[in-house]
Amino acid sequence: MKKVLVFGASSSRNSINKKLAIHAATQLENVEIQIIDLNDFEMPLFSIDREGETGIPEPAQLFKKMLKEADAIVVSFAEHNGSFSAIFKNLFDWTSRIEKGMWENKPMLALATSPGARGGQSVLSHVLKDFQYRGGNIVASFSLPSFQQNFSDDAGITDETLNTELMKQVAILQETI
Ligand SMILES: Cc1cc2nc3c(=O)[nH]c(=O)nc-3n(C[C@H](O)[C@H](O)[C@H](O)COP(=O)(O)O)c2cc1C
Repeated sequence: MKKVLVFGASSSRNSINKKLAIHAATQLENVEIQIIDLNDFEMPLFSIDREGETGIPEPAQLFKKMLKEADAIVVSFAEHNGSFSAIFKNLFDWTSRIEKGMWENKPMLALATSPGARGGQSVLSHVLKDFQYRGGNIVASFSLPSFQQNFSDDAGITDETLNTELMKQVAILQETI
């Protein structure tokens, strides 16, 4: 069965992005989903000097192996000050030192959500522009605004228009797997 790597790009214990990523991935059919928590990939802050002294830490090597083994990726990006969360940026920097094309051209559904009305659109638009230069193959994307108003743990996305749009994006990913 095809394997889908799923994570929220966040370190929050109750990450709304992790919830959204899992919700989207569980709409896929006939796939095995592998959910990871970025807290298990915490490492010293990247520095070129640290890399020279001690090499690339094991969690980045493991993340790279998981990317290689995945057939597709579902990720939802937390937005901190218009950009990535620190835990994701650190993992991104370390892993990119193994290979610049770090995303392995695996089909990706890129998501973002936040409590605010913009739904993490700043970080998502950066991802949509930039990942293509790092082996990214984003085939579908979706931003969920005002998470607390539009999502429930039991029902998923409660706004019909937004739910239809997410399902459309999930179907696009499904076709590539
Ligand atoms: C340091 C910090 C900066 C933030 N900056 C933004 C921001 O720029 N835009 C936004 O929509 N939300 C921002 N937020 C709110 C986050 O979207 C919110 O904490 C959200 O729950 C993060 O996603 P997570 O639950 O998956 O970690 C920020 C939160 C923190 C702690």
